[in-house]
Amino acid sequence: MARRALITGITGQDGSYLAEHLLDQGYEVWGLARGQANPRVSRMRKLLADVQVVRGDLLDQGSLISAVERVQPDEVYNLGAISFVPMSWEQAELTAEVTGMGVLRMLEAIRVCSGVSRGGAASPSGQMRFYQASSSEMFGQVTETPQNERTAFHPRSPYGVAKAYGHFLTQNYRESYGMFAVSGILFNHESPRRGAEFVTRKVTLGVARIKLGLATELRLGNLEARRDWGFAGDYVKAMHLMLQAASPEDYVIGTGRMKSVRELVEAAFSAAGLDWEQHVVVDQALHRPAEVDLLCADPKKARAQLGWEPSVSFDELVAMMVESDLRLLSAGGDPDQDSSWP
Ligand code: NAP
Ligand code: GDD
Repeated sequence: MARRALITGITGQDGSYLAEHLLDQGYEVWGLARGQANPRVSRMRKLLADVQVVRGDLLDQGSLISAVERVQPDEVYNLGAISFVPMSWEQAELTAEVTGMGVLRMLEAIRVCSGVSRGGAASPSGQMRFYQASSSEMFGQVTETPQNERTAFHPRSPYGVAKAYGHFLTQNYRESYGMFAVSGILFNHESPRRGAEFVTRKVTLGVARIKLGLATELRLGNLEARRDWGFAGDYVKAMHLMLQAASPEDYVIGTGRMKSVRELVEAAFSAAGLDWEQHVVVDQALHRPAEVDLLCADPKKARAQLGWEPSVSFDELVAMMVESDLRLLSAGGDPDQDSSWP
């Protein structure tokens, strides 16, 4: 019988790539989707006709228990979150509820449905396996570079704090109940399906608009921030590998290479034959109340224990996104409408 996976955050970037990967591996894939008429569900269904949808919301404990009872998954991937860092200052409480407490609700749904009792540690074998989407934002103001699985956390946003809660809680359920519950500490990963609010996609869409004569300038915040950017299609494979491991452990996933936002901008404009200095305007209003200056992964453990390696370089990623956005806008597609997903 096919193994069954339940993915929260199925309408997001990672949900789509993970679902594709699991379908390729022969899984029966279920996606948890919220809302009465969520347009992102129709977009997802167009791309992933074989994914089955179960309704539920990370804010609603009962809905998660019902979803787990109905699907009876072998593996649960908790990717649902408020994931845009600036929004976490504007809606800090909601971020804590969805991105932080949502992890507790999902773990409780699994614990209750698999009959694991409080105080009674169960054997990890034969249980539903749980993956938590932890984030390099937990490192925040970094204490060492590069960051590995033992680096201390110093989150700099309500989002980072909520992720740290989810991370420690996942570890705690593993220790308290013997659950096969792991966290992937993923560094920034991008793709042509990245949300338009994140800096890579904002830049590649801006480049495409300028190239096609639809805009003349692109307003950005801090150009000096540095990130370790990889391709989302590579990173979802690491999520799956973590749940196939012999023992439940956490892993850092990234490329080990850092670039600044300025270098990102230079690469994207030059991929379209444009000079960024003619078009980019720095806007102080887009700076954050507390910035994460740099993030750089040490992915040695994932390479050694999971055999995981990224396959797409920074330059290839930027070129892929610029080309995709040029194609999208040339064909009259609207990235703000949810019809278009390459
Ligand atoms: P994304 O594109 O922003 O997707 C977020 C998903 O969360 C969407 O499917 C959204 O569904 C869902 N969601 C929001 N509120 C929800 C709720 N109350 N109940 C259930 N689902 C809800 O994010 P992503 O880039 O794919 O990232 C996936 C996960 O990895 C997130 O947890 C993110 O924080 C984490 N992460 C991402 C990165 C990265 O660089 N991409 C790095 C580290 C960690 P709707 O359609 O209902 O809004
Ligand atoms: N979004 C955005 N917009 N960021 C900008 C801009 C702008 O106009 N100008 C400069 N930046 C800088 C931000 O200040 C930040 O330092 C960097 O670009 C990256 O911003 P984002 O692309 O919004 O990503 P993030 O690093 O804050 O968070 C992403 O990665 C995390 C993992 O490290 C998200 O995907 C999180 O969900 C994820 O956990």
